Amino acid sequence: MSFITVSSRSATPLRRQIYDECRHGILAGRFRPAERVPSTRDLAVTLSVARTTVAEAYDQLIAEGYLEAVRGSGTFVCSQLPQAIPPAPPQLAKHPLIRLSRYGAGLTQDVLRPSPPPGVIHFTTGTPDLREFPFSLWRQLLTRHLRTAKTATFDYAADPAGDPALRAQVASYAARIRGVSCSPEQVVIVNGSQQALDLSVRVLLERGDSVAFENPGYYAAHRIFRAHGARLQPLPVDAEGVVLRRLAADTRMIYVTPSHQFPTGVAMSVARRLELIRMARERGTVILEDDYSSEFRYSGAPLPSLQGLSNDAAVIYMGTFSKVMFPALRIGYVIVPPQLIETFRCAKWLADRHAPGLEQAALAEFMREGHLDRHIRRMRRLYGQRRSALLEALEKNFGARATVLGDAAGMHVMVRFEDPAIARRAARNRVWLPSADQNYLTNPPGNEFIFGFAALTERSIREGIRRIAGSG
Ligand SMILES: Cc1ncc(COP(=O)(O)O)c(C=O)c1O
Repeated sequence: MSFITVSSRSATPLRRQIYDECRHGILAGRFRPAERVPSTRDLAVTLSVARTTVAEAYDQLIAEGYLEAVRGSGTFVCSQLPQAIPPAPPQLAKHPLIRLSRYGAGLTQDVLRPSPPPGVIHFTTGTPDLREFPFSLWRQLLTRHLRTAKTATFDYAADPAGDPALRAQVASYAARIRGVSCSPEQVVIVNGSQQALDLSVRVLLERGDSVAFENPGYYAAHRIFRAHGARLQPLPVDAEGVVLRRLAADTRMIYVTPSHQFPTGVAMSVARRLELIRMARERGTVILEDDYSSEFRYSGAPLPSLQGLSNDAAVIYMGTFSKVMFPALRIGYVIVPPQLIETFRCAKWLADRHAPGLEQAALAEFMREGHLDRHIRRMRRLYGQRRSALLEALEKNFGARATVLGDAAGMHVMVRFEDPAIARRAARNRVWLPSADQNYLTNPPGNEFIFGFAALTERSIREGIRRIAGSG
């Protein structure tokens, strides 16, 4: 490889720059499968950085299946790259006659979700166990709606905010399960919570506005704010959730994940919730509450949503069916203050008209007939067992050398290791283990990983942990 460049003046940590440059080079086909890459020592000398910085970037690339280390011969671009690596999106390639907008120019491929190579144990963070979803029932519901549909069902929907029956179901579900206080009119059905975020940013944020963000925090939210030119204000996270002491006076927006902070997994305490609501009210800050997996809590009752506590503070509440049903459904919801209903309806119409009608109708019925509640109860039991299996396996194989963060909730746990060779061992032993690094706005401490346990059997979880401990 005529290799890569990094800048010591960039705000992006050097390790991240090396990782990004290599990954982009591989994705764009500049570095070919089976091509040798410089040794960590050579690259460190060329770039004038510490060798451990290069080694850490390489470890992550190895863990994700982009590079492979061959004992005694060196490090190579994987001959079998992760499948379904998307080709370089056109907007990332330069065209002599096309000038990108600032938004377009701000997009980088790290917004995409890499797919693991086949045959690995994949601790996937975002995916529920799809084998357990009652698809035959879902098929019946869709068929029933298709059979009885009138011509109008196939026209543009009358309301961009969604099917009225589904909005009513969502309003009562959010009130019952999450203590959200709203009318069905405040519910806008969107294409997953990612669209809820995108619409919120479009209608509420100017370039250069200050957005406070949990650090570490959900990278896909961070990338949206960054692409829209927000000034990001990283706030640390402690055992009670996001730390607000340094919340700037001019903060326009704060993004939080109070029921299961992403990625650390801590639940925001009541005291912190009240402090956030008070400070947001004083500063005129809009709170974006992403309640992405609050349904999965394995001990005690979940704390009700921030939205339900907020009185007159401006909270935009987002929920999704990606975790409790399946991600390809692409249905989520945003619950907005009454004054924003019309703005969100117009923004949704301009963005993509409305969510697909048949799926919305089938989902409303799935909820009305109690199938969603039943499925969640069953998954909560199953995921609780898987989480316990994961914690036991970590304890057995690592003991005090692994620190598990967060509460008994959600579909993943974040783990901090002492052993710097975890990523390398995971890659060598065919375990796909997401690093927590990309969720940091500042230099990541490294050696932190996110173990999604929901989609793996207890047996695979135990086997995966044995493999990364070097005993598999
Ligand atoms: C913090 C967080 N919010 C939201 C989502 C869900 O996104 P969507 O509803 O667009 O599928 C995820 C999925 O991984 C997530 O981790």
